[in-house]
Amino acid sequence: MPSSLLPDEFQWGVATSAYQIEGAVSEDGRGPSIWDTFSQVPGTIARGDTGEVACDHYHRWEEDLDLLVALGVNAYRFSVAWPRIQPTGRSPTNARGLDFYDRLLDGILARGLRPHLTLYHWDLPQALQDEGGWGQRDTALRFVDFAEVVARRLGDRLESLCTFNEPWVVATLGHEKGIFAPGLRDRQLAMQVSHHLLVAHGLAVQALRTLVPRVPLGIVLNLSPSYPARPVAADRAKARLEDGLGLRWYMDPLFQGSYPRDVLEHLGEDAPDVEPGDLALIRQPLDFLGINYYMRNFIHAEDPAATPPGELGFTDMGWEIYPQGLTDLLVRLARDYRLPPIYIAENGAAFVDRLEGGAVHDVQRVAYLEQHLAAMNAARSQGVDVRGYFAWSFLDNFEWASGYQKRFGLVYVDYGTQRRVLKDSAYWYRAFIESQRSQTAPHAAVTQALS
Ligand code: FCB
Repeated sequence: MPSSLLPDEFQWGVATSAYQIEGAVSEDGRGPSIWDTFSQVPGTIARGDTGEVACDHYHRWEEDLDLLVALGVNAYRFSVAWPRIQPTGRSPTNARGLDFYDRLLDGILARGLRPHLTLYHWDLPQALQDEGGWGQRDTALRFVDFAEVVARRLGDRLESLCTFNEPWVVATLGHEKGIFAPGLRDRQLAMQVSHHLLVAHGLAVQALRTLVPRVPLGIVLNLSPSYPARPVAADRAKARLEDGLGLRWYMDPLFQGSYPRDVLEHLGEDAPDVEPGDLALIRQPLDFLGINYYMRNFIHAEDPAATPPGELGFTDMGWEIYPQGLTDLLVRLARDYRLPPIYIAENGAAFVDRLEGGAVHDVQRVAYLEQHLAAMNAARSQGVDVRGYFAWSFLDNFEWASGYQKRFGLVYVDYGTQRRVLKDSAYWYRAFIESQRSQTAPHAAVTQALS
């Protein structure tokens, strides 16, 4: 195992993704991505927002990296924009795009932070979508080529490299529900896409093992535990199916080499075409599993809109605050699968934040983080091997179909001026990390740092 993954080096970080923060969508040779196209379609994004400017991170990256230092984190998770590096999704590469990430990476390292890079956080080059996108198996080969280009240039300096962020979201929200780019509504296609993403992951991991043998490789999944709304058989059965579609559909092939049989039966003709050897390919040994946790699924057999009790409230996304779900999820995964070390690659919440007198008193976000960190630690004390935690997000940013209205940042972004303001949650997180490092009682350290 790479020495950087030793347990004493717990990674405390924040996360972002390229399209959500960079802006500068047509600068330095960047090609259009499916999110550029999708966000131009009237009615797809709240208030007609797009990622055209976002947090203008492409121009402000140095001051942003300084802010990471102010946050006291020791790790940073970010993604590269494929269409900056390969504007049409194929060679030749765009030198100016790669140069940007090269400088960014050096800047991260110069500040003593550990870089965790994600290759694909949803911004497929539009040119590849025009040829069928992830519905085409060939896109998996294009992805491997892109992964190799990135690894050749940046692979000497990475703490970890992740192939895909949340393949379920890409497949289901992008190709079945149509609420995310590319906005398609076809379940058979969505399942085929999920399979192609997993094939692309397997092929890329194989190729990267040879190219960058020292870089820890993994994938990031969004996983929510599914609970029956009522203690009745119908709800239990539906929760089991939901667990199959959202969790086992990805976990089983990645870690056990098969798709769950109950889900294949449920899908019937919508099940994907799988070629001989695909399942062995998908099950590559991994160095880490990244988990994004936001909420649980609350499943009622007859009423898909049934609301959970929400004893701890709901976020501005309408998502129930349910930290216990994170403990339950981690303990269950460790029981059901043979897993590599885990990172919580995203966890966080949107709330209505107000900038008042140069400060943002986001008490609800502080509570959310505190509860979820405690939930993570409860799982760790039951033996689950968690090696890092990344709060979503570093900055307020373009929250996909919700646009800029939903703020997830520990740092507030005033979009009119691009001014950044550390929210109370940022100070709280800094103090929490310090307390964990010095092993003193968290509350003493927090009080001290806030005073
Ligand atoms: C996750 C995404 C991330 C962000 C959060 C709120 O699904 O990975 O980009 O949008 O949700």
